[in-house]
Amino acid sequence: MAELDVVLEHVDKTFPGNTRAVIDFNAEIEHGEFVSMLGPSGCGKTTLLRMIGGLEEVTSGRIFISGKDVTDLPPSQRDTSMMFQSFALFPHRTVFQNVGFSLKMQGIDKSIADRRVWAMLETVGLDQLSSRRPSDLSGGQQQRVALARALISEPTVLLLDEPLGALDYNLRQTMMVELKKIQQDTGITFIMVTHSQQEAMSMADKVIVMSDAMVQQIGSSREIHENPRNRFVAEFIGNNNIFKGVIRSRSGSMVFIEAGEQLYYVRVPEHIRQVPIGQEAHFSVRADLMHTGDNPQMANKIIGRYLATEFLGTLETDVFEVTPGHFIHVEQHRHLSDTTYKVGERETLCFAANSGMLLEETRRPDDRV
Ligand SMILES: Nc1ncnc2c1ncn2[C@@H]1O[C@H](COP(=O)(O)OP(=O)(O)O)[C@@H](O)[C@H]1O
Ligand SMILES: [Mg+2]
Repeated sequence: MAELDVVLEHVDKTFPGNTRAVIDFNAEIEHGEFVSMLGPSGCGKTTLLRMIGGLEEVTSGRIFISGKDVTDLPPSQRDTSMMFQSFALFPHRTVFQNVGFSLKMQGIDKSIADRRVWAMLETVGLDQLSSRRPSDLSGGQQQRVALARALISEPTVLLLDEPLGALDYNLRQTMMVELKKIQQDTGITFIMVTHSQQEAMSMADKVIVMSDAMVQQIGSSREIHENPRNRFVAEFIGNNNIFKGVIRSRSGSMVFIEAGEQLYYVRVPEHIRQVPIGQEAHFSVRADLMHTGDNPQMANKIIGRYLATEFLGTLETDVFEVTPGHFIHVEQHRHLSDTTYKVGERETLCFAANSGMLLEETRRPDDRV
């Protein structure tokens, strides 16, 4: 079995005033993993990261690092290091001094410390800029100093709170790749908090999707993209079409869902045991599994009116309105889409029974068992 660097067991945090920031959080993080905690602002990500680092006390639950219960230990005894959103560099010290600061504090022999600082500066590509001060660096360079400073103590786990949040778009794209490479080179476990789907999905080995202070799903980017577990994840991640209707009947792993005049035939994923017949439910269909034009081989068909096309690189997404306010996204590669629609034009949209997936409802604090 893989070595577990961080284990969170039933971690809860309630702030004074009864703000429940984290509720019954359970997760296992393996050695050397790049994990990202993804969720909208206010869902409890920073609080959770601070609890792992010991900067915030847990209200209840346990936290283990490298197998040791650290719940009641101060930050200095946890073997974690934190990189803050605002890089928090010392403005009057050089790059070299910023990076070497914690080694100096630990009283490590200067020649050994210097060697470690040089090696780290090389890892993050700052060896040429060692004598500059933070104000003479670009945003990306400052970010690398912050990263080097956090990594120099060779922590078991590096905690990163929105590390790319302060950077502009192009730099963020570059730093995503660099951060991932540095993580792979050093082999240190990274736990990164972000509200950006793109950052989480492209960098992490494991994504923990959160909302409403709770874990909604844990999985690889691919798992989360292909099998969103509940309505929150389906709405938050990727380009999913969400449908609502009433479950009419079940046959094996499939259900019939009625929505107005429409009857849909979709899949029940394995994790859903109980299918409440007669109740309202949601299902999702990924935009890349939705097709334009009548296809008799597909179980589900719906008429929409063309509204607009969104372009992203070689992908384009055609948007259709099927009922007032309900928009369907159809994503395809540009070379496959030879049709040009006029606004308001009617088109048949199809999807296979297997492409529609019944969703659980979003986990909310009051659902707690
Ligand atoms: N020190 C604090 N005192 C009281 N409430 C707090 C404190 N820190 C965070 N919160 C609240 O806890 C919730 C989660 O906050 P936070 O962990 O910062 O979310 P995120 O990082 O996902 O945006 C929010 O409702 C926030 O207002
Ligand atoms: Mg935060």
